[in-house]
Amino acid sequence: MTADDKKAPQGELLHTDFTNNMTYGEYLALDQLLSSQTLLSGHHDEMLFIVIHQVSELWMKLIIHEVQAAISSIRKAELQPAFKMLARVSAIQSQMTQAWDVLSTLTPAEYMEFRGKLGRASGFQSYQYRQIEYLLGYKTPHILTIYEKDPELHSLLKTAYHAPSIYDAAIEALARAGFPIDRHLLKRDYSVTYTGDPTVKAAWMQIYNDVHAYWNLYQLAEKLMDVEDSVQQWRFRHMKTVERIIGFKVGTGGSSGVQYLKNVLDHRFFPELWDVRTEL
Ligand code: HEM
Repeated sequence: MTADDKKAPQGELLHTDFTNNMTYGEYLALDQLLSSQTLLSGHHDEMLFIVIHQVSELWMKLIIHEVQAAISSIRKAELQPAFKMLARVSAIQSQMTQAWDVLSTLTPAEYMEFRGKLGRASGFQSYQYRQIEYLLGYKTPHILTIYEKDPELHSLLKTAYHAPSIYDAAIEALARAGFPIDRHLLKRDYSVTYTGDPTVKAAWMQIYNDVHAYWNLYQLAEKLMDVEDSVQQWRFRHMKTVERIIGFKVGTGGSSGVQYLKNVLDHRFFPELWDVRTEL
């Protein structure tokens, strides 16, 4: 016990001398993190709006970290670690979806007090969100143009844009397991959004028809479904929360707003995994 260690009222011994030790706040860079909420309007509810976006971006950072590692595991034929990482991704996604409950406490009247201050800024420009879409295989190019003004970020996004997605890695795993996958798929231009292939569908059909023979690939398919399902849940809650707050106004990012968000709901990342459900 040093002279500066103190007893708490409950009798617990607490460390209080941090002259030569790192504190919790230093480790987590809390000074930086907690001074990054700059309200533009001074309106009480803008704090909620900023924090909910920042929390979501932090979760997205972890999702990217996990999905990138899951892709490299699958490509090395190490499926078990990938399952563990994808389970974590699903748990993070649940947190992100539940965050809409908090944002729903923002009423249209409150949002209108500061919406004008946002200018053209919109979640549409979230580069981490696009990175996640790229990792899952949805390669929309417009975000690359938006971030041309930042060479470092632009090059990071471009790399993700041209890299194989987690579904490309899964298709490679099917080929490795001996399924007759079209060879062109294994050397395709990864910057093009994958839309489906009969050889991949046939492989998944065989797996779902005999799950015990292909347990690992079956588990991979279901883990991918968990992630895609959760992306759709998040998209749906976003769309409905937006409708609740701004109705059918156009978005600050320049889109039609709710209608745009409804259209995005139709996109499928892993098309054959949905198709097999109809055909089994
Ligand atoms: C009052 C709250 C919110 C409103 C009114 C709102 C509105 C919108 C609208 C209208 C769009 C379509 C693009 C545009 O024209 O702007 C959009 C896109 C988007 N928003 Fe939000 N949003 C809100 C909160 C959030 C939050 C908390 C996040 C979390 C990060 C978020 C992330 C996104 C993303 C990633 C997109 C792009 C979706 C896509 O292209 O598929 N939004 N938002």
